[in-house]
Formats: sequence, structure tokens, C-alpha cells
Amino acid sequence: MSKIIAITGASSGIGLASAIKLAQNGWTVYAGTRHAARDEEKYANYENLHFLEMDVTSPDSLQHAFEMIDKKHGRLDVLFCNAGFGFLRALGQASMEEIKTVFDTNVFGVIQTIQAGLPLLKKAESSHIIATTSVGGLVGQPLNEIYCASKFAVEGLLESMATYYKPYFNIDITLLEPGAVATNFNDTVFGHLEKTGGILDDEYKPIIENYIGTFRARNSVPQTAESVADVVVELLGMETKPLRLRTSDHAEKFTQYKVKQDPTGLDGMLQTRKLQLNK
Ligand SMILES: NC(=O)c1ccc[n+]([C@@H]2O[C@H](COP(=O)([O-])OP(=O)(O)OC[C@H]3O[C@@H](n4cnc5c(N)ncnc54)[C@H](OP(=O)(O)O)[C@@H]3O)[C@@H](O)[C@H]2O)c1
Repeated sequence: MSKIIAITGASSGIGLASAIKLAQNGWTVYAGTRHAARDEEKYANYENLHFLEMDVTSPDSLQHAFEMIDKKHGRLDVLFCNAGFGFLRALGQASMEEIKTVFDTNVFGVIQTIQAGLPLLKKAESSHIIATTSVGGLVGQPLNEIYCASKFAVEGLLESMATYYKPYFNIDITLLEPGAVATNFNDTVFGHLEKTGGILDDEYKPIIENYIGTFRARNSVPQTAESVADVVVELLGMETKPLRLRTSDHAEKFTQYKVKQDPTGLDGMLQTRKLQLNK
């Protein structure tokens, strides 16, 4: 029986590459995008790959998508919350409207997606929630405070859920933590920066210039989306699912001080579970 996965943010990058790779590996894939008809036509040659309208800021669109999967299969094996985008501006520069837009997708989008998909995940014998956070969900970085705060929020959300979802609902939880990946991500970040006045002539100017200077050197060889998708395929085949999973050596190295003691996040989480639930 083919396993069923729903992936948000599957119009490009990590989501699309994972959707294609999993469909090729025999999974039934529901690829959530904001342009399902367009993408369905674009990738019509892939078997088992179905595009669904899933705007993570729209509860109606999510509800509708999960209802469709329910009608067809009566269950969902894996929910991959991947939709998100980066944001590069200092807290002292960003408008509240911009900050809320980041949180609407990166945080409330994940919360809404899980809330809407949970009943279907519970209908499967065992299931798995994956969320793409980032190395920025573990390590704060200059001028990325809004983005990192959004990814730290998802890390806290899912780490907490992991303490009881497995023993009580048989649902595994994994935080996928990529470093730099060659996708549309940077175009979105720098596109927004340009659209909102570019590098402003203020006290943050030397900081952002410094950051961008080192950024190019640091990210000269980003991971490909396909190689992140390989990690996702590998994760889905693992007997014991890690709570945290970096997707490259580069990501591992960058986060080493945060994860050295407990690289998969399982030891700490299981200790909390034992202490507070005696499970
Ligand atoms: N690339 C990196 O360097 C990197 C590193 C660490 C973590 N990440 C994380 O990886 C995830 C995937 O990003 P990516 O690198 O693959 O970039 P990407 O190619 O830009 O993909 C982002 C995806 O999210 C979708 N999206 C954005 N807002 C959405 C919304 N409201 N509802 C539904 N979908 C929405 C985009 O859809 P549209 O096409 O409709 O905009 C697109 O499909 C993100 O969560 C990102 O934070 C990326």
C-alpha cells in the first residue's frame, strides 16, 4: 500500500524536489502550492504526484485540501510543513506589518497546517510530522532576528509536541534543519529588501554591508534542493525518527555548539517526557 504524504510549499525548492523524489519512490504525494492548477499542468508527467491548493495562511484552503485527501484515502501518513520564507532586516528597521507577514507564514502557517491535518494523521496507524526550520532555528544570526525568531518558534512548538505525540498518538516529529540551499529563497529575501528601499542609509548600513560581504563567501557552494530531498527520503526510511536533522555537513558544522551534546534532540526530549509524563 502506497504511503501518503502532504507537503506545503511544494511549488519550488525543497518542497518540490521532495515531492518529485517521493513520487518517484512510490509515495502518493499531495504537493501543496498556491497555484495548484498551474503546477499540476507543469508536472503532469509524474505519476502519484498531485497538486493541491494549500495557502498556509488560509485555514479554508488547508481544510479543503485535507478534506480531499480524507475522501480519497481516509488517512495521512506524513505531513511535511515546509512552506516558509526568509527575511533580512533589523528589528529596528522592520515594520510590524512585515514582521507579522513572516510569522503568518513561518509560524502560524505551520500551526494552522498541523491543526488542520491532525485528525487525518490520527487516522493512520502511525504517522509523522516534519517541519522545515533551518540552522536559523538553532543559531541566531545578524539581521536575521525576525526569521530566526520564527524558526525558533517552530522548534519550540514541535519539540514540545514531540514529548507526547509518539506515546499517545503514535506520531513522530522531526525538525528538518538545512543550511544554505540553492532555491528561490535568496531571491525572495533580497527581492523584498530591494522592494522596500534596499540597503537603507541608516546606522544598520555598515552591518548589512558587512553581512552581505561575508554571505557571498560563506554560501558559495549551497546544498541543492535535490540533496535535501535525498535526506527527506532517508529520514522517512529510518526506524527511529530523529527530532532534529541537519541536512548537510555544512549545517552540522554551523550548529555544532548548539547540538553537540544531543545531535538528534532525542536524548533531551525523552528525558523531559520521562520526567513530566513518566513515559
Ligand atoms: N534555501 C535555504 O537556504 C533555506 C535554508 C534553511 C531553511 N529553509 C527553509 O526551507 C523551506 C523551503 O524553502 P526553499 O528554500 O525551498 O525556498 P523556495 O524555493 O522559495 O520555496 C518556498 C516555498 O514556500 C511557499 N510559500 C511561501 N509562502 C507560502 C504560503 N503562505 N502558503 C503556501 N506556500 C507558501 C512558496 O510558494 P510560492 O511559490 O507560491 O511563493 C514556495 O513553494 C522554508 O521553510 C525555508 O525557510 C531554506
